[in-house]
Amino acid sequence: MAVKNAMTADFLRSAYGGESAAHMRYLIWGDMAGKEGFPNIKRLFEAIAYAEWAHADNHFRELGEQVGPATVTAGAEFGAGKTVDNLQGAINGEKHEVEQMYPVYLNAAQFQKEEGAARAFRFALEAEKIHVKLFEQARAAAMQGKDMELGEVYICPVCGYTEAGPVPDKCPVCGVKKEKFKAF
Ligand code: FE2
Ligand code: FE2
Ligand code: FE2
Repeated sequence: MAVKNAMTADFLRSAYGGESAAHMRYLIWGDMAGKEGFPNIKRLFEAIAYAEWAHADNHFRELGEQVGPATVTAGAEFGAGKTVDNLQGAINGEKHEVEQMYPVYLNAAQFQKEEGAARAFRFALEAEKIHVKLFEQARAAAMQGKDMELGEVYICPVCGYTEAGPVPDKCPVCGVKKEKFKAF
């Protein structure tokens, strides 16, 4: 069901803008990490870029069938530096989403009884908490001039849940079966 209230619709557009930028930024930073000699950090960026795509996809679809233009204001991290610095940018962006943006958007959507938008915001919030931790691990390794240790990373295509350990039988956030997970 599509969003009805203007405030939640604005938050969906802003979140879509932020997730879209994060998706692209992580692909760029991943490419740079690979060239810097960190193939696992590159792979982490690519996996998380896919999770951000899933979030953008959810937010976009919740806007429903009313096709038309809008100007989007969305926070984003910028800069193409060394991987340690890019990872700090990633951590800062993810923390902003976990501590400020998604709790506020989720509360607004719940207040306005926008169940679809609330689901999309909750899915993103849960994944971003994991992204903070993984990027912190990556940065700790890069600070010592090393690549991170990283097995296969699994991403839920529905909610963006991110698992760097064994893949769960079903997604703990949205319940999708493990066969649907995308491996990186
Ligand atoms: Fe996200
Ligand atoms: Fe994220
Ligand atoms: Fe999921």
